[in-house]
Amino acid sequence: MSLAEQKETKMWGGRFTQDTAPLVEEYTVSVTYDRELYAEDIAGSKAHARMLAAQGILTPEEAQTLIGGLEAIGKEIENGAFVWRQDLEDVHMNIEHRLTELVGPVGQKLHTGRSRNDQVALDFRLFVHKRLLVWKTELKQLIRSFLDQAQKNRDVILPGYTHMQPAQPVALAHHLLAYCQMFSRDIDRVCDCARRVSVSPLGAAALAGTTYPLQPKSVADELGFQSTFANSMDAVSDRDFVLESLFVGSQIMAHLSRLCEEIIIWSNPSFGFIKLPDAFATGSSIMPQKKNPDVAELMRGKTGRVYGNLMALLTIMKGLPLAYNRDMQEDKEPFFDTDKTVSLSVTIMGQMVHALTFRPDAMHAALRKGYLNATELADYLVGKGIPFRQAHHITGNAVGYAEKCGKCLEDCSLEELRFFSELIDNDVFAVLAYETAVGRREVPGGTGPASVNAQIVHLQTWLKELD
Ligand code: ARG
Repeated sequence: MSLAEQKETKMWGGRFTQDTAPLVEEYTVSVTYDRELYAEDIAGSKAHARMLAAQGILTPEEAQTLIGGLEAIGKEIENGAFVWRQDLEDVHMNIEHRLTELVGPVGQKLHTGRSRNDQVALDFRLFVHKRLLVWKTELKQLIRSFLDQAQKNRDVILPGYTHMQPAQPVALAHHLLAYCQMFSRDIDRVCDCARRVSVSPLGAAALAGTTYPLQPKSVADELGFQSTFANSMDAVSDRDFVLESLFVGSQIMAHLSRLCEEIIIWSNPSFGFIKLPDAFATGSSIMPQKKNPDVAELMRGKTGRVYGNLMALLTIMKGLPLAYNRDMQEDKEPFFDTDKTVSLSVTIMGQMVHALTFRPDAMHAALRKGYLNATELADYLVGKGIPFRQAHHITGNAVGYAEKCGKCLEDCSLEELRFFSELIDNDVFAVLAYETAVGRREVPGGTGPASVNAQIVHLQTWLKELD
């Protein structure tokens, strides 16, 4: 490209006397990925043009011409006719350049009172906001899958674990509803974060605001922003909204990853608590018997890259003075990657949870392996007037004995149990039943059936009231 041509195409080329070095062009280009923001860029420019006309800075005809050109560009991009040019650096200059090609010199008036610094912040805020709302819908669907399974498996009981050791029996529904709580907090975080994303920076211009009598509020209203910037320097240099979204995504992945870990353990034949749907598992190329939980493993692995994206941007931002710095162009790819990963992961997990088959028999067999009703015996003795510490000790002895005999507490005879305390009676066997252990835990938020029911109703109402 000749220097004369470069001066034409590079919108900032006026003071330059040398071509951009080819490697520099390749190094600084962002249109290869920020073209993803084209719809937001066009929407932002249309709102800006309309506002310029309303403020008497452009004539209504000029604004109409610009808006018509921008709409035509939108169509070109959608039907694949638009030619993206790397020498035009980014999505903003590609679109503006094409606009001038299409509508003539009036195209050059679009950027009045605006800078790419507030333009890129606006585009990206619109984009992130749009994607957060998609995450919210996908999370709702995931919670619905859990609620369906919880309702279908109300009577199933399985071992609850602490330290990954058998602890106390719990309802499967209760276990599943714990995940609903995690994902409902994620929805809360998404909504809270979306409110801070929804601040329009347009009017901040390069950093100091502008001398044109702009009306930032009308642009913000047209684009559906909840508020406008309070400080022009902050408006163009703030990327908290991206960081927060990357954290929200990381937290979602942390929850998914814990769930993946359980799916992997539960599908291991030693547990056998679930049957993985074939559509969500893969085989081994050498071992014919294998059915691997690859989806859950990959999701657990992808959590790492999502954390990495958050770390990347935190690090990018930590040393930046006010206001805009080109470093900030590095905010897009981490978000695009996190967005794609979170969105797909949540959706796939929703489908996988929906398709899981639970194995109550295997769960019941596991209940008989870990003395999960020992606490019940201790509480029973407390009921007979023995101080808890002493009851704990007596029960420990009984467990030791049963273990030596290779049987469960409930398999011991009354005589055997009475050896440890004379206060034990025939009524102890009802207490030792796993169903009783679960059924008696009706504290709000506990694993008892009425409490589980209340949790389900509460979540259903919460989901319905969520906009
Ligand atoms: N491509 C740039 C980015 O993503 C747009 C803003 C550039 N502004 C500037 N003055 N160079 O951050």
